[in-house]
Amino acid sequence: MLIRPMRDDDIGAARALTHEALQRSRAATRPAALPAPPSGPPAPDWSGRWERRAKHLLRHDAEGCWVAEIETDGGSGEVIGVAMSLRREKLWGLSAFFVHPRAQGAGVGTALLDAALGYSQGCLRGIVISTADPRAARRYRLAGFTLHPTIRVAGTVDRSALPVVDGVRTGGPGDQDLCDSVDRRVRGAAHGVDHEFLCAEYGLLVSDTFTGSGYCFVDSSGSPVQLAATNRKIAQRLLWAALAVSPEGADVRIDYLTADQEWAVDVALAAGLSLRTEGYLCLRHLRPPAPYLPSGAFL
Ligand SMILES: CC(C)(COP(=O)(O)OP(=O)(O)OC[C@H]1O[C@@H](n2cnc3c(N)ncnc32)[C@H](O)[C@@H]1OP(=O)(O)O)[C@@H](O)C(=O)NCCC(=O)NCCS
Repeated sequence: MLIRPMRDDDIGAARALTHEALQRSRAATRPAALPAPPSGPPAPDWSGRWERRAKHLLRHDAEGCWVAEIETDGGSGEVIGVAMSLRREKLWGLSAFFVHPRAQGAGVGTALLDAALGYSQGCLRGIVISTADPRAARRYRLAGFTLHPTIRVAGTVDRSALPVVDGVRTGGPGDQDLCDSVDRRVRGAAHGVDHEFLCAEYGLLVSDTFTGSGYCFVDSSGSPVQLAATNRKIAQRLLWAALAVSPEGADVRIDYLTADQEWAVDVALAAGLSLRTEGYLCLRHLRPPAPYLPSGAFL
């Protein structure tokens, strides 16, 4: 097996193995009360966005992106694992970490993670979002991360519970400085170029008042993708405004909440959504940022 830097022409194979690994892992760790995840080929919007995200990371963090390759019987190489990481102002984050189900449990993940962690040199602080996979959690703890169990929220929004929200407007590319400055206050590092990506892919809600400021990227289902605010009141307003985007009957998710995000848990419960636990927010030399909802891709 060879661990080597990822290239643009690895993106398709890395996306395909990620889909396989995710499907297998969701089926294995799903609580009995939840419906099985959809099987079959990935939705085109998931694939397209995954590939654009990989391209973005290769452009800005080439040294943080690695693949594992084996030689096939025909003598060509086959990509069987991927780890993509990023560095933003002295904060290192792991954006993707997957091994094809066929190759799992044989040391590939450990070798890939070691390569990606090499890119964290000079960054004391780190952030990773872990699935419930015990192999992932083991490697993160052994790399010095504290594991904070996370709550996942899902359901359809009770529209009769939506309050009137003021002080929130639609944002755009011109709000990047505001987003970066909120990031620095809340998690000690701006997202920088990732805001450009998020702005191109998702809707942006912004609140900028005398009492504080914040932002929330939201997808077409009304699910917040990433949210940061300088106080809980603004964070709650932004979250309500995101949930209000949700079309009637749409499945909404709010992911990766630690116990530090009770402001979000309270909004979720008031909106009629339900809670369960899954996975960890893994932090190194960093207290859980709050009020904050990290994104899986840019953390
Ligand atoms: C998580 C994942 C990337 C790890 O890759 P892998 O190649 O399977 O992992 P490895 O074989 O290198 O094992 C990792 C560690 O877990 C240990 N391990 C193996 N099976 C285990 C089990 N059932 N329970 C606990 N630990 C286990 C290994 O011994 C190893 O620890 P060590 O290096 O200290 O010996 C891979 O399993 C995967 O893609 N899982 C599904 C998707 C996922 O959850 N990705 C993580 C995203 S955060």
